[in-house]
Amino acid sequence: MHDDPTAMPAGVQYVYLASAALFILSLKWMGQVKTARHGNWAGIAAMLLAVLGTLFAGGISSQGFMWIGVAIAIGAVVGAPMALIMPMTAVPQRTALSHAFGGLAAALVGVAEYLENRGGDGLSTFTMGALSTEMLLGFLTFTGSLMAFGKLQEIITTKAVVYPGRNIVSMSTLALAILSAVYLTLNPHSTEAFALMIGASLLFGVLLIIPIGGADMPTVIAILNAYAGLSAAAMGFVLNNKLLIVAGSLDGTSGLILSIVMCKAMNRSFLNVLFAGVGAAPAANAGPKSPTGKTIVGFSIDDAKAVLEDTRLVIIVPGYGMAVAQAQHAVKELANVLAKQGTDVKFAIHPVAGRMPGHMNVLLSEADVPYDQLWEMERVNSLFPEADVAIVVGANDVTNPAARTDKTSPLYGMPILDVDKARTVIFIKRSMNPGFAGVDNRLFLLDKTMMVFGDAKKVMTELVAAFKEGAH
Ligand code: TAP
Repeated sequence: MHDDPTAMPAGVQYVYLASAALFILSLKWMGQVKTARHGNWAGIAAMLLAVLGTLFAGGISSQGFMWIGVAIAIGAVVGAPMALIMPMTAVPQRTALSHAFGGLAAALVGVAEYLENRGGDGLSTFTMGALSTEMLLGFLTFTGSLMAFGKLQEIITTKAVVYPGRNIVSMSTLALAILSAVYLTLNPHSTEAFALMIGASLLFGVLLIIPIGGADMPTVIAILNAYAGLSAAAMGFVLNNKLLIVAGSLDGTSGLILSIVMCKAMNRSFLNVLFAGVGAAPAANAGPKSPTGKTIVGFSIDDAKAVLEDTRLVIIVPGYGMAVAQAQHAVKELANVLAKQGTDVKFAIHPVAGRMPGHMNVLLSEADVPYDQLWEMERVNSLFPEADVAIVVGANDVTNPAARTDKTSPLYGMPILDVDKARTVIFIKRSMNPGFAGVDNRLFLLDKTMMVFGDAKKVMTELVAAFKEGAH
């Protein structure tokens, strides 16, 4: 299905141009909460134009159309229920699965092109180089993303599996894959190099993910996203398709930028995420026991209601627990009730709260929380000293002051939300258990802190009911 630009109808070239422009706008719009929905629609339209343009570019036989129809039907039957049934909390693993299929598709197109053309002398060194890159990245994205899916879905251990010399084993496998790819580029007829490159790429995908803890998976998924994009861009060079080059490069670079943003928000380096084996075992001070031996007494709904009455400024800090409990609608209701009594309510958004980029933004926007109530970490931190109450709904690590002071903590250096500077802190969670990083949060022990134990949705709903009852 080569689309020689000289043979391609001019109309199709315009369609490709429009599609490329929409892909770029889509990324731009998706970078802002307010315009994210437009970005989504622009991305859908761009992909639709790309598919239609390719179908009408010519060169597809009627049998070819039949097989494309079958593939679309199978994809729709699998994909539509996946999109509808999977809960929001499972989006990271769903994304991993999509990348696995994307990587596999790119790799298989590479294999088909290679097998179809290796007999003659149609494979120039440049084409062969692009083909090898496409297959190498495509196959490692496939197994790497499947492993990421398995970890996030807890089908395989979520812990980082570490063993002595693991980085040497991984790097040697990658080196083998690259060397076979280079050899294949220079000797396209070498079946051995072809098989070795595929085998080493598939193995490297597995080895890359095994020593990474489940907690770092979202960052790794963004990196795999970049690989899948680069693989598609390489495919664009093979098929001489400019749109694939543009879309693949956009996908590749946005995945890379996203992973850098996530690393920065956690104050970690790329290399630390990929090779340090973080998450192999729980941190030494993990566990529900308080380090000072202080007994933690849970506060009641009525206690929480009492401190929330007559407040001027309340800052709500959502976290992963809000997503698990699907408490966003109840949280929004509480914000409404507080606003009704004259309290200024703001939501503090930490860039890595939850388990995927923009997790809290998506949930709160689903609950129709106005965008101007969402405050990014940098802006909201200066407001905490003025806040009467900070309500932490299922967040933990993103509020942990150990990130500022404890050099031995895995969280050390991560910028946090300064909830400890508010006059009172209400923590809503089910127990004293730690969060994702597995470390205790000393904030639970402060005198200004009120722990209200329970499922976030249940507690929020009861709190709203208590306010409404009080109003009668
Ligand atoms: P966490 O630190 O993971 O804490 C979430 C808390 O929610 C837990 O302590 C848990 O305590 C509570 N919880 C769970 N289910 C609940 C429920 N049904 N009702 C009420 N509470 C519930 O979350 P966070 O503060 O949002 O921090 C995110 C963490 O994920 C950070 O360490 C971050 O580095 C990491 N991470 C995030 C991302 C992205 S992109 N967001 C990517 C990679 C890593 P109980 O069990 O006691 O209820």
